[in-house]
Amino acid sequence: LNYNVTRERRYILEVLFNGLRRLEYRGYDSAGISIDLNSNSPLVFRQEGNIESLVKSVYHDVAATDLNLEESFSVHAGISHTRWATHGEPAPKNSHPQSSGAGNEFLVVHNGIITNYEVLKETLLRHGFTFESETDTEVIPKLAKFIFDNANEEGDQSVTFSQVVLEVIRHLEGAYALTFKSRHYPNELIACKRGSPLLLGVKDLEEEASAGSSFGDAKFPSSNGQPKELFLSSDANALVEHTKKVLVIEDGEVVHIKDGGVSIYKFDQAKNNHGGTLSRPASVQRALSILKMEVEQINKGKYEHYMQKEIHEQPESLTTTMRGRLIRGGSCKAKTVLLGGLKDHLKTIRRSRRIVFVGCGTSYNAALAARSIVEELSGIPVTMEIASDLVDRQGPIYREDTAVFVSQSGETADTLLALEYALENGALCVGITNTVGSAIARHTHCGVHINAGCEIGVASTKAYTSQIVVMAMLALAIGADTLSNQARREAIIDGLFYLPRKVKEVLKLDKEMKDLAKLLIAEQSLLVFGRGYNYATALEGALKVKEVALMHSEGILAGEMKHGPLALVDENLPIVVIATRDSCFSKQQSVIQQLHARKGRLIVMCAEGDKASVSVGGSSRVIEVPHVVDCLQPVINVVPLQLLAYHLTVLRGYNVDQPRNLAKSVTTQ
Ligand code: G6P
Repeated sequence: LNYNVTRERRYILEVLFNGLRRLEYRGYDSAGISIDLNSNSPLVFRQEGNIESLVKSVYHDVAATDLNLEESFSVHAGISHTRWATHGEPAPKNSHPQSSGAGNEFLVVHNGIITNYEVLKETLLRHGFTFESETDTEVIPKLAKFIFDNANEEGDQSVTFSQVVLEVIRHLEGAYALTFKSRHYPNELIACKRGSPLLLGVKDLEEEASAGSSFGDAKFPSSNGQPKELFLSSDANALVEHTKKVLVIEDGEVVHIKDGGVSIYKFDQAKNNHGGTLSRPASVQRALSILKMEVEQINKGKYEHYMQKEIHEQPESLTTTMRGRLIRGGSCKAKTVLLGGLKDHLKTIRRSRRIVFVGCGTSYNAALAARSIVEELSGIPVTMEIASDLVDRQGPIYREDTAVFVSQSGETADTLLALEYALENGALCVGITNTVGSAIARHTHCGVHINAGCEIGVASTKAYTSQIVVMAMLALAIGADTLSNQARREAIIDGLFYLPRKVKEVLKLDKEMKDLAKLLIAEQSLLVFGRGYNYATALEGALKVKEVALMHSEGILAGEMKHGPLALVDENLPIVVIATRDSCFSKQQSVIQQLHARKGRLIVMCAEGDKASVSVGGSSRVIEVPHVVDCLQPVINVVPLQLLAYHLTVLRGYNVDQPRNLAKSVTTQ
């Protein structure tokens, strides 16, 4: 902040801690913070465990050292970080900020991965640096010190902070969003990014005081000297309680905050890859964007956990996903869908030789759930690609392909790499994401936002159902010019219209699923059998159980039952069989019979009224769910499995929203 506004140290600490709490869902094995003791002496705290362990240790240390929480600052540069370990176990020494060494001359927090850190480390070791951590990040502050010391030795006492940082990033390979702080440059922060997300939030303090002035459409940064509080974050969640005005920092941009003022430079990475002097890059000015989110959306409200809240808000999230996109109008109006972000590209998509769905985890499963309806309505073959596997294989992607990238966060490193690869190969690239302004949304040619609202629970729930709905709408839009399937399309549009209501109904199974969870609490393993539209439901249900309840679970294509899985079946292993009404129903009835013949412990999911058709003897348990049009049934069927995973996790005493070893948004390979 700058000018005549002052903030106490306690306030600064709380802003940083709250920011970390908002980001904790992205990583939670250790955390750290750096604040100013006085203007040129940064204090660093790092702690293993969650944010609250860091908060406790900071306040404990503050009390032990008599650090004055009431001390006021008119300018202060603080940084903080919550970590999800890639290199090095969770431990204070591996937490960020990483330091250049004694005296904390340079401090860095990093989101991403530096792929050439070993080479850099070797060079720095040869120059006498010693390393404390096992992280890739530590090379960055050490390199900054090396560059700073060299410039000084060569007599350049006036080397600026941005010159040092530009020289550092010239040597870095990989993905990063970085923030630098230095004892040599008090009251300054530098942030830059390549590959990983970074936002600059701008809070106009005069506006806060007078509720008057506004940045409007003016370009930012401008020279008008209003007092500001500036926030850098990898995620809008940490900013929204302070400001909705943000600048999405682009790859290759460097943000320099000095005494509360901002300069942004575009750093030409291609030009700077080999040697050369530290030229001043071009400065950047853009209009600020306004975040369309409310703080309430990122609070738990009446729920105990985010996952629980997100499961229960699916009727609303699905409604938002479809808002303004379904046209079901009066008698003379055809039933159709409108996807604004695709309208200029539909012709090209219809002409494609193939549609390739690409995603990871739950997003992959959502694409799999929509695969058949896209094939059916478009008449175009659809192939499925797990993003990392496509890149590993360098699988064939052609100019005549439409590649659809599905990602809740829009930032998953594997999916982004696959996107880069598909772009290089000339495919039309479509993004389906839940994050406006995310890398996938920006780098694809066109796309659809799923608009499910912010999802915080690490296990994806409402994003999954909204993704399926978006892909069903995609199928409808691609197939819209085919007369022969008009009636089918209209039936699906009707189905979409009623879907939120049906999801509300299926949520009433909450208590039943809790009771089932009680029965399964001590099990080692759970199998889920599905086929057709609901093969994806089997995979996704098993993934939920695995990731949050920490119970082994496998989704099995029922058609493959006889080719291996049947060997596992006995009277102990619980098996969920999805047997709702569609063209595979009779085949699933026979699967139930065969599993029963091997004394399988069955839990059958069927459509309301079908209980008698799927019951075998007295041994099976039946879950009845509302019936909807076949291609949307996966949206309904996954809900009881989400509830089961949720209750199993709570009953087993595990952390629902932050499952062991997982992160919400995996921005490293
Ligand atoms: C991580 C998350 C999963 C998610 C996957 C893909 O593994 O834990 O919940 O499905 O990433 O994430 P994306 O943001 O690309 O959908």
